[in-house]
Order: sequence, then structure tokens, then C-alpha cells
Amino acid sequence: MPRPLFAGNWKLNLLRAGAVDLAGALRKGLEGEKNVDVVVCPPYTALAAVTEVLKGSAIGVGGQDLYWQDSGAFTGEVSGPMLADLGCRWVIVGHSERRSYFGETDEAVGKKLRAAQKAGLEPIVCVGERLDERERGVTKEVVGRQLDGALGGLTKDELRKLTVAYEPVWAIGTGKVATPEQAQEVHAFIRERLLKLSDAATAREVRVLYGGSVTPENVRGLMEKPDVNGALVGGASLKADSFLKIARG
Ligand code: 13P
Repeated sequence: MPRPLFAGNWKLNLLRAGAVDLAGALRKGLEGEKNVDVVVCPPYTALAAVTEVLKGSAIGVGGQDLYWQDSGAFTGEVSGPMLADLGCRWVIVGHSERRSYFGETDEAVGKKLRAAQKAGLEPIVCVGERLDERERGVTKEVVGRQLDGALGGLTKDELRKLTVAYEPVWAIGTGKVATPEQAQEVHAFIRERLLKLSDAATAREVRVLYGGSVTPENVRGLMEKPDVNGALVGGASLKADSFLKIARG
């Protein structure tokens, strides 16, 4: 079983002072914690300050997105080498909010994840169906297409160096968490897809996180499922107390 990973996606929240306070409290609260990996993904504007606070700690820092070109005339974008230069080791790719509000396609997600790996960052690749897709019974079709679009053509070595996050869109920010059984069903499907793209050892090693209304109250039930290797947490990662409860158990 891979080591559990708990990642906090701070989204469009926190000015530098609040981000520094939160990072400092997490550092203190996770001192000596050896059983799980923890990552925080602050907004770009707080990345430098947060990497400074977390320097020398076991808590990793990630971007929430990146562009696939390293540099050039792409106003407003941030690249993999820029994130790495700030001390990031991680980056979220293909979050459903990027897909739905900013028109990100599976092809763009694939390019971003390759650019992340080229820059030495570990991508957390997000997939997940909308409510209407679940109701139509096409969840696996949607998730399968997202996975193939983003991961198709990667070598085993490249697959080993990424994390997948299953985030059903209907569960994000709604308080309507997937049941452990619903999560496990899709996680097992993701694992099967990974197996098709690689081999048994690689498919076992890739962490598959669950995301969508994760709280200290519901995380243990999810973590009991064999294919749930951690969580990508939004709202509950903005308070040290709740994120620490999630990560430390
Ligand atoms: P919430 O935990 O706020 O539902 O957000 C989940 C998410 O989108 C993490 O990336």
C-alpha cells in the first residue's frame, strides 16, 4: 500500500499573512508525523511566503495549476520551472474548476502534466464526473476518458511519478461527500485503468486520492477502503485544526 497523502487545495483564498499563519500552524501540528505525506497548494501569490515557512519541514508545497510552455508570450500564465524555482515539488492539474470555468480539455491536462514532470514536479491529476453524468450512469466512461486523455502514452516510470485525485464534481464544495463505497468503486476502476496503461506493480504504487467535501468526520470511512490512498481537501484545509485532524487521523 502506498503511503497516504493528504493535500490541501487552498483555491482562491488567503492573503499572504493568513497563508503564513496557516502554514506555520500546520508545520507545528505535524512535527514528528511520520506516517503520512502532507502537501499544501496555496494561491500563486502566497507560494513564496509559504515555501519559506515550510522550508526544512516534511510538508510539501504545490501550485494549483501551471501552463505547459516554460516561458514566452503567454500573459498571466505560470510555468513548471517557475513553480520549481519557488520550491514547489507538486502541482494540481486538471481540477474540475479549471475544466468547467476555464475550458480546460483533456488534451490540455495531458500537456500540463507532461510539463509538470519535465520541470521535476509531481502532478496531482484530477478526474471526476458531474452530477448529470453520474445520474446518466456514465461515471466510468467519463473518468476513463479523462484518464486516457491525460495519461495515455506515459511510460511506467512517468506513471509512477504522479498522483490521481478522484473528485466527483457534485461532491466539491457541496457538503455531499461520496460514500466510501461510491469512492471505492471509482478508485478501483481508476486502478484497473492504470493497470491497463502499465503493470501491476506500477498500478499499485500510484496514489489515488479522494476529493469532495472531505472533513475530519468522514475521512476515516473513506480511508478504510483499499483503493483510497489519501484525500485532496478544499474547504476543510483552510483551517489548521480541521486539516490536521484529517491528516493525523
Ligand atoms: P471541498 O473539499 O471544499 O469540497 O473541495 C474539494 C476540492 O475541490 C479539492 O481540490
